[in-house]
Amino acid sequence: TLTAHFGYKLVDWYQSNSRDLPWRRTRDPYPIWLSEVILQQTRVVQGRPYYERFMQAFPDIHALAAASEKEVLALWQGLGYYSRARNMHATARTIVLEYGGKFPASYRELIGLRGVGDYTASAIASFAFDEQTPVVDGNVFRVLSRYYGIFEDIANPASRNLFKKAAAMAMPPGQAATFNQAIMEFGALQCTPVSPLCPSCPVNSTCYAFRHEAQSMLPVKNKK
Ligand code: ADE
Repeated sequence: TLTAHFGYKLVDWYQSNSRDLPWRRTRDPYPIWLSEVILQQTRVVQGRPYYERFMQAFPDIHALAAASEKEVLALWQGLGYYSRARNMHATARTIVLEYGGKFPASYRELIGLRGVGDYTASAIASFAFDEQTPVVDGNVFRVLSRYYGIFEDIANPASRNLFKKAAAMAMPPGQAATFNQAIMEFGALQCTPVSPLCPSCPVNSTCYAFRHEAQSMLPVKNKK
């Protein structure tokens, strides 16, 4: 089908176009979690040095749990949104005290942790544990809305489920981790907000936005 074809094409594109980033070289949920929390409101170039310093200072969940909140916030200095750091620290302690230091391994359990929302739970469940659960972030909204011609307002929380279903249908079986990385990387590098690289795009011939010259109209995001 067209939808499956799209997912395989993205995975294929990812194999030869992705950046080599440290959190992509591991299946350990701890560094994956750390990187995803940092990258929620921060770009890769800005976030990466913080990631490296955090991993140096707190190489595993036990080290983070044993640190004081002051030490954690000192390392977070400059990243902003300090509740992210406080929630991470509290969750590290919960995982050590209540889960014996072992990360919960499913979306359903992960979403119950403090500071872990739909995006982060899906990211950890897919990247670390290969669960077939789609990630939806700003990049994913853009790629899917353009490719499928989805005009739902992404500022409306109710739209999220529609995008999750579209992503889940495009996801090749057994390739949740790669597909999720691929669609985010594709949004970051190829299907960019301004001046997307459509002439060199591997799925342009079946892309709604390309065929209708609607790239600049998608995604639809109405002011709140
Ligand atoms: N932004 C959010 N998650 C990311 C990831 N895993 N790699 C690169 N950029 C990201």
